[in-house]
Amino acid sequence: MEKYLDLKNATDYSKLENAGKIIKNGGLVLFPTETVYGLGANGLDEKAVKKIYIAKGRKQDNPLILHISDFDMLSKIAKNISEIEYTLMKTFWPGPFTIILNRTEIVPNMVTGGLDTVGVRMPSGKIANQLISYAGVPIAAPSANISGRPSGTNILDIFDELSDKVDYIIDGGECEVGVESSVVRVVNGIPNILRPGKISPEDIEKVVGTVKIDEHILKNINDNEKVLSPGMKYRHYAPKSNCLLVYSEDNEKMISKINELAKQYSNPLIISCNENFARYSIKNKIMYGSKENLNEIAKNIFTDLRKVDSFHPDIVIIEGVKKDGIGLAIMNRLIRACEYHYIKI
Ligand code: TXA
Ligand code: MG
Repeated sequence: MEKYLDLKNATDYSKLENAGKIIKNGGLVLFPTETVYGLGANGLDEKAVKKIYIAKGRKQDNPLILHISDFDMLSKIAKNISEIEYTLMKTFWPGPFTIILNRTEIVPNMVTGGLDTVGVRMPSGKIANQLISYAGVPIAAPSANISGRPSGTNILDIFDELSDKVDYIIDGGECEVGVESSVVRVVNGIPNILRPGKISPEDIEKVVGTVKIDEHILKNINDNEKVLSPGMKYRHYAPKSNCLLVYSEDNEKMISKINELAKQYSNPLIISCNENFARYSIKNKIMYGSKENLNEIAKNIFTDLRKVDSFHPDIVIIEGVKKDGIGLAIMNRLIRACEYHYIKI
């Protein structure tokens, strides 16, 4: 059987029926969503879900998101849903929004890492949505990458690390958003943002008023600290090279600080916005998009982080962005990629 399905320019998704069967029968499928690629398995099949952890090398206490294609599936996996949780789902689904809900008995422990909650998302990506419909079961899917590596936003970036670990590969081209979904849990009637994404605190505020941004989004976590989401604890998105994040609201100050830092190394690499690119007169540079278009930076950031090691730099200096809208998600990923080495001026 051919293992690779090219749907990059497709308008007809009926070929996904076969992939749906593979999921239903316990196989692993690499598939695109609007955020990042997912490594999917039948979310109600404990054995199939276990294969995901093995393929990624993921810690078993880090729970997975269940992806659904309609509200009928929701009622099977989640219970005691509050008014405000419904409002959030109806507003942001289908889309890059994950909500943590009380789970039902049929959700395997393997999915939730033993928690009594489950993360649920209804993706808007057409391929993902069709695939879930054909599978007829919720699909458990983490981002498609070996644990600790940047998430995969196109097949080329992840082919070498995952292709021989899956039963089927669906190529949908580049993911539209580029960073993973916003993860939200409602606590005492207030949405807490556990992982920022394209659906921003401002977007959520407009719908329900007060929003809380979890303090760990931009802060390191001590070993003994309790967190609302296990994923916050783990090393993420980090290249092998030593990375440093630098940001100032004053663009000129940021540029001079980065130039001054770069001089202290023999083979620095700078990742900057298009507008500042020419201001760094060193050999190794990557442009991550326009600072006037944070959606573009979000879309490119993981692919760019994957490129840095090939330069063998002794330091990677990355420009930060303003934290508005999707900017908070970009900063959250960059701070982790830099393992909290962050200079704010
Ligand atoms: O955009 C996305 O969300 C992508 C695509 C494939 O849908 N998926 C994704 O999954 O990013 P993953 O496994 O890489 O990240 C899921 C995050 C983790 O940080 C995990 O700890 C958190 O969601 N999470 C999942 N279930 C949870 C739960 N019951 N309680 C708290 N956090 C949970
Ligand atoms: Mg991930």
